[in-house]
Amino acid sequence: MDILSAELEKYLDRHRTSEMDLLKKLEKETFQKTTQPQMLSGGYQGRLLSLISKMIQPKTILEIGTFTGYATLCLAEGLPKEGKIITIDRNEELMYLPKKYFAESKFAEQIETKIGNALDVLDELEENFDLVFIDADKSNYINYYEKVLGKMNSGGIILADNVLWYGKVLEEPKPNDKDTLILKEFNELVAEDVRVETIILPIRDGISLIRKK
Ligand SMILES: C[S@@+](CC[C@H](N)C(=O)[O-])C[C@H]1O[C@@H](n2cnc3c(N)ncnc32)[C@H](O)[C@@H]1O
Repeated sequence: MDILSAELEKYLDRHRTSEMDLLKKLEKETFQKTTQPQMLSGGYQGRLLSLISKMIQPKTILEIGTFTGYATLCLAEGLPKEGKIITIDRNEELMYLPKKYFAESKFAEQIETKIGNALDVLDELEENFDLVFIDADKSNYINYYEKVLGKMNSGGIILADNVLWYGKVLEEPKPNDKDTLILKEFNELVAEDVRVETIILPIRDGISLIRKK
């Protein structure tokens, strides 16, 4: 199920700020070289991530799920000079691609890549975060949320992507549709969690905007 009509999506795309040329190049190469290019945040969602990051001006950002680094670069746009972003992915083979674009960007010194299973890497991190983007395997969303919440500064923002799962959260999932079940559970847990304030933005595949009190 598409949340927005294709016509409205086109309209929204025509009425937003353009992304930098490096992101256009990265998007093109992602479509040429990867088998699931649609995983990348893309122009519209990328501008949202960039704007949110610029509003927060976070000193520390964490991204769970680098893929080709599109969202990493968008989030990095809001970093102050002394700020940094850590991005985690388990796909070692693909890491050459985001690393190439990070090196070309003006954020090269501010981006730290970590390769490994995100849950393990999270346990090793000593930093606290002002902004976190959860965008990896859906089956671990609740685990990521719980681990990350303990590392958030007060007032920090967690963004979680794909929480509407193409509208499947409205359906009664089949017993074997584990991701839908987990995302439904995730949305309920966050909505009732007294430690945070939250709202779901019906953008693309749904993004939760969660603020730690
Ligand atoms: C949707 S893509 C990320 C897209 C990227 N954030 C963007 O917006 O352009 C999800 C990524 O999560 C990674 N991933 C999935 N499960 C993971 C895990 N358990 N640990 C680390 N990375 C994982 C995948 O390898 C994939 O590159």
